Amino acid sequence: MRRIVVMISGRGSNLQAILRVASQEQWRHTVVGVIADREEAQGIRLAALAGIEAAVVPWRNYADRAEFEHDVWRQLVRFSADLVVLAGFMRFLGDPLVSHYSGRLLNIHPSLLPAFSGLHTHRRALEAGALVHGATVHLVTPTLDHGPILAQSVVPVRSSDTPETLAARVLETEHQILPRAVSWLADGRIHLPTHPGGGRVEIDGVSPRERLLTLDY
Ligand code: GRF
Repeated sequence: MRRIVVMISGRGSNLQAILRVASQEQWRHTVVGVIADREEAQGIRLAALAGIEAAVVPWRNYADRAEFEHDVWRQLVRFSADLVVLAGFMRFLGDPLVSHYSGRLLNIHPSLLPAFSGLHTHRRALEAGALVHGATVHLVTPTLDHGPILAQSVVPVRSSDTPETLAARVLETEHQILPRAVSWLADGRIHLPTHPGGGRVEIDGVSPRERLLTLDY
């Protein structure tokens, strides 16, 4: 049984998706805690409804990122986290925290990485005239929105799309690919590329096709 901690900043719909799939599929792994960087994060209420403890580490109270990360780390240790999921967590996390949880820390990012790392991805995809957009679940490295890719969703961009309609369509796919990737990682099925140039992650019993969710136009 792996102890999963989910980190959030807002609504928490990805947290909810993980909890739903974990219960439907009767995972042997458990979400033991939630960490939010804002007291107002609505996802805290979802955690409470599910009987999961939520700790708040309010980033606004910290003058220094290292101190903020130090307190996040303390909470992760308190929860005895085996695996950490950044599910709409909007703060950058760096070393030494990221290296400590290397291979056990994943993130969902609302774009087809390596395109559009950072913020406002949906608006930027529209501005670039992209024909496809999507979401990426990846292992976290100390470089923002970078790291071995576990799963991606490809969402066509419609000519009528606004950042909001595109975000909503991408979000639905996030709710599918994130829980899958969390379960692969928790099951210990992920093998990182061994050669220095990186390359594709291998996942036991999962074909590359199953790691890709594609929406029709
Ligand atoms: C998601 O689109 C996530 O990829 C992005 O912020 C959004 C969070 O949504 N970083 P929620 O809090 O999981 O509902």
